[in-house]
Amino acid sequence: MRIGNIAFDEYPVILAPMEDITDTAFRFFCKKAGADLMYTEFISSEGLIRMAGKSMDKLRLSDDERPIGVQVFGHNVESMKGAVEVAERFYPDLIDINYGCPVRKIVNKGAGASLLRDIPLMIRMTESVVRATSIPVTAKTRLGWDEQSKVIVEVAERLQDAGIQALTIHGRTRAQQYAGLADWSLIGEVKNNPRMNIPIIGNGDIDSALKAGEMRDKYGVDGIMVGRACVGYPHLFREIKHYFRTGSLLPMLTLEERLEQCLAHLEKLVEIKGERAGVLNMRKHYSGYFRGVPHFKPYRLQLLTLTTLQEIKETLHQIRDTHLSNT
Ligand SMILES: Cc1cc2nc3c(=O)[nH]c(=O)nc-3n(C[C@H](O)[C@H](O)[C@H](O)COP(=O)(O)O)c2cc1C
Repeated sequence: MRIGNIAFDEYPVILAPMEDITDTAFRFFCKKAGADLMYTEFISSEGLIRMAGKSMDKLRLSDDERPIGVQVFGHNVESMKGAVEVAERFYPDLIDINYGCPVRKIVNKGAGASLLRDIPLMIRMTESVVRATSIPVTAKTRLGWDEQSKVIVEVAERLQDAGIQALTIHGRTRAQQYAGLADWSLIGEVKNNPRMNIPIIGNGDIDSALKAGEMRDKYGVDGIMVGRACVGYPHLFREIKHYFRTGSLLPMLTLEERLEQCLAHLEKLVEIKGERAGVLNMRKHYSGYFRGVPHFKPYRLQLLTLTTLQEIKETLHQIRDTHLSNT
């Protein structure tokens, strides 16, 4: 796959942008595990044009994580253009436009998935962003606003004509939010549309190497994007990449390995954000690290109340000791 001048493996595995999750610390581990392309969490265009601290913080990128894309969202064409000009000063490899966020407070302002209800505005916004930057622009969207308006085949053509260089499609409508199963059949339809020549990246419910392989083979997408299943389990990138390369499956991480990974993640967060912010942010990740671990709930509740690195370390050691004495 190629996006502009950036060449990827034949079937790249891409980290989905996720608010409050895909920060520098988490990306460090996803990259280490083999993610081919990563995106920042979405960043408000209004925040960027005002150079608001929280928005600007999200633009801090390091060379080790390339290729990396900055994702922006907004409702106003001029703000989006200005935001991209600000983002470009931090040398991302790509700019991605968010046309998929279903959250009410974003949609009510006319941003994210809301643009699926105003395709002429979406296209004007895209053209303006493409004109504003010299780096490739990609977009991420959903199948449509709701069951009655699954417009993705037409939208994909028009976004391509507007100049985007790759398109990620999450196989749900805005109305579905995250419920039900992702429907990849329309993603396949876009991919097989002879009018399309940009890479199509499929997204939705990839939670194992086998599922990634199945979707790749069935729908012929150019790349696979992984979101929730890698939260607390960045090793999933290693599993999928290994499977794509060799056709064989790596063993899943043991609980001990997951505990080690969890601690390393926490320490990285504390190093980057400081103890208080790092400990708070880590709370988003515990469920992932201990997914499927029996009797984990009391520990999870405990972890959610602790406020220091030392206390959390002790709890993680306790979990390990309890588990080892039970095996
Ligand atoms: C906590 C959370 C935050 C998200 N934030 C963003 C975001 O900032 N930008 C975006 O395009 N999608 C965002 N998404 C959607 C994901 O990128 C992805 O499209 C969705 O989770 C489906 O993929 P999955 O089934 O692999 O999780 C978010 C999803 C979650 C669960």
